[in-house]
Amino acid sequence: MRKAKIAVLVSGGGTNLQAILDAQNSGVIHSGEVAAVISNHADAYALTRARKAGVEGLYISKKELKTQEAFENAIIAALEEREIDLIVLAGFMSILSERFTSRYDHRIINIHPSLIPSFCGQGFYGLRVHEAALKKGVKVTGATVHFVNEIPDGGEIIAQKAVEVLDGDTPEVLQRRVMEEAEWIILPQAVEKISAALMES
Ligand code: GRF
Repeated sequence: MRKAKIAVLVSGGGTNLQAILDAQNSGVIHSGEVAAVISNHADAYALTRARKAGVEGLYISKKELKTQEAFENAIIAALEEREIDLIVLAGFMSILSERFTSRYDHRIINIHPSLIPSFCGQGFYGLRVHEAALKKGVKVTGATVHFVNEIPDGGEIIAQKAVEVLDGDTPEVLQRRVMEEAEWIILPQAVEKISAALMES
């Protein structure tokens, strides 16, 4: 069977991208393969990770393209050219418009570092999510993989995994635990599941 062609959209360090690349090597992901990594930051370490894995890395600059529409058009052109089946947002720090998300209905997934519907939506990204969880005093947090639609963190949930909050946690410590115990596990699993489903349909 044909493998789903995957594009991973990133902005930063790319540890979730690395988890996907590692899962491809170990066979956890076998129904799809990463065909391109697209970053909106030129110096994202994720682009170095892509290069090291022999995967094409592209930098698309919103700053240079000026408008959201032009930025999204450049991403769409890159995706179409490579006949991408599945788009994975892995630490991609830019909100995509409805024009974009509706074009790829149930073909875009995102990893969010909380148990949705807690600590999600507009303004909840990066360390802010963990700061909010600690401030609230929750004893359990986690990560969620979901489909992306026009509502930030509002699409259908695909997978979730809970992680304990421990006494004395800082946002940084909690962020790392959520990545290690949840994100790096459920994101590759979800990528395999959705790749397999797309190739069957
Ligand atoms: C992760 O916490 C992810 O959940 C969030 O952004 C962070 C990205 O980290 N959306 P990395 O670039 O994958 O290391």
